[in-house]
Amino acid sequence: MKSKNTLYNDLERILVTSEEIQERVRQIARQISVDYNNKDLILIGVLKGSIIFLSDLIRNITIKHTVDLIGTSSYGSEMVSSYNVKITKDVNGSIFKKDVLLVEDIYDTGQTINAIIGLLTLHNPASLEVCALLDKNKKDKISIPIKYTGFKIPDVFVVGYGLDYNEYYRNLDCIGVLKSVSSEQ
Ligand code: IMP
Ligand code: MG
Repeated sequence: MKSKNTLYNDLERILVTSEEIQERVRQIARQISVDYNNKDLILIGVLKGSIIFLSDLIRNITIKHTVDLIGTSSYGSEMVSSYNVKITKDVNGSIFKKDVLLVEDIYDTGQTINAIIGLLTLHNPASLEVCALLDKNKKDKISIPIKYTGFKIPDVFVVGYGLDYNEYYRNLDCIGVLKSVSSEQ
C-alpha cells in the first residue's frame, strides 16, 4: 500500500485533491488530442513548475507530438513576483511552423507567460497557445488568453504537483496551502 506523503503534515488546507487533478488532466489531454489532430504539435513545458503536469498530460495525449522545455528565472525564495522575468533556457529544437502549446504551472501575474510568448513568437510558430494548470485570481495581472485552464484558485500561495516553496513540496500529489504561509497572510 502507498504510504501517505509526510509533507501533507505541513499543509493547512488542500485546494485541489490528487483525484481532481488527475481527472482534469485527462479531460484536458482528451481535448488537446481532438483540437490538435493532424497538426504538428509541440508542447513546451516551463521549468521547473510544469514538469509533473507536463508528464501526466503527455501520457494522456493520444496523438503524435513532441516535447521541449524552456527555463525562466524563478521567484527564488520569495513568494512575490519579481516582475523581472529572464529566460534562462531557450527551447532546444526548432518551433518554426509548428503548433506550439506552452505548458505552465500557474498563471499568476502573467509576467512569465507574457515574456515566453514574446520570445517564442520570434521563432515564427504556426500557432501559439497556452495551457496552465492553475489560474490565480489576481487583480493586476497581464491579460493573456489561456486556451486550457485546469483550475481557478484564490490569490494564495500554493505548493504541490510541481509548484514549490524554496524548491520543496513539488512532489505533493495535490495542490495545497502551507501552514506557516497561510498564517502569515
Ligand atoms: P507570474 O509570472 O507572476 O505569472 O508567475 C510565474 C511563476 O511564479 C510561476 O510559473 C510559478 O513558478 C511561480 N508562482 C506563482 N504563484 C505561485 C504559487 O502560488 N506557488 C508557487 N509558485 C508560484
Ligand atoms: Mg513556473
